[in-house]
Amino acid sequence: MRKTRLLRGYDPQKDREDIETAARILREGGTVIIPTETVYGLAADACNPAAVEQIFIAKGRPADNPLIVHISDLGQLEGLVTRIPGQVGALAARFWPGPLTLVLPKSDKVPLVTSGGLDTVAVRMPSNPVARAILDAAGVPLAAPSANRSGIPSPTTAQHCRDDMWGRVDAIVESGECQVGVESTVLSLCTPVPTLLRPGAVTLEELRGVLGEVRMDPGVLEHLEDTAKAPSPGMKYTHYSPRAKVILVKGSPEQYGRYVTYHQDDGDFAMCFEEDIPYLDAPLASYGGQTDYRRQAHELFDVLRMLDKLEAERIFVHAPAPQGVGLAVYNRLIRAAGFLVVDLDQEPAGEAEKEE
Ligand code: TXA
Ligand code: MG
Repeated sequence: MRKTRLLRGYDPQKDREDIETAARILREGGTVIIPTETVYGLAADACNPAAVEQIFIAKGRPADNPLIVHISDLGQLEGLVTRIPGQVGALAARFWPGPLTLVLPKSDKVPLVTSGGLDTVAVRMPSNPVARAILDAAGVPLAAPSANRSGIPSPTTAQHCRDDMWGRVDAIVESGECQVGVESTVLSLCTPVPTLLRPGAVTLEELRGVLGEVRMDPGVLEHLEDTAKAPSPGMKYTHYSPRAKVILVKGSPEQYGRYVTYHQDDGDFAMCFEEDIPYLDAPLASYGGQTDYRRQAHELFDVLRMLDKLEAERIFVHAPAPQGVGLAVYNRLIRAAGFLVVDLDQEPAGEAEKEE
């Protein structure tokens, strides 16, 4: 067990002293959980291999799953990469600081432990003012994966971080709820056509608006049969899984309500949209309106974690449309569900009731 310090990071000015303490721990090679606008991150000095090693140990993360390096100004990017592709200027102007991560050719300054052995590095500039204050005070780029234990839903509150990481890190900077609620969009600029590796709050539609052509990697929506070929190592691991079994259901509120009512048993919950409530007779937790994808993203991990605390056996989740920020929510949910999706629109009437 490590001695974990609780620090306050609600306001970059008022909490100056704690922010300086967090920065000092990071400079000295320690691990600190910091708030960001997406999810809480488990940070360490990105260029200190021994410090980065501690991140993998605390999370129980496979060594070949690379970390995202966080910077607070564009000047820091130069040292981390061998080349800045032409698209970076327009992307940074539009989306940085913010929830967009770019995969770029790595320089020797970034240790292989940080890049999971790859010759590329993922970089992002967060917008959360406390994250930025800590980055500025530390004066070094910070590697930070989501601060959850490997495999389970990411943390969006300080309480989630305490639940997962107490005694495993040197400090936790407590702050409010993360604004976005799902991790950043990951875009590779190391492919002939820019490729979306992980959808997030910066949408595919917005990226195409800036870049023109952007490919969506098949691993975003499908299970990769040959995991050796995963362009982003994170794709091949179990992700976002609560203890409960997640069943993702596509269909109208009425179809979804009928399906859940038919299949629901003791210990099962409906994780639904507001519109579904009139059609449900099961214990339920709503995670937003059917097309309010930003709200769904904000609630997603908190509701999954809450249902685990309630010892749910199975969670029937109503799937959002895979568009806009809904694509990010859908991408996390299919992984939480182990790619088990019930599509009621595709099934002839009555079929859904007969299966199992
Ligand atoms: O919003 C976020 O991005 C949060 C906050 C803390 O910044 N961080 C985060 O990190 O989500 P993590 O480690 O949970 O997810 C990083 C993802 C993984 O799927 C990883 O495989 C991918 O980014 N990744 C990192 N470096 C990569 C690289 N060089 N090439 C391809 N994928 C990479
Ligand atoms: Mg993660």
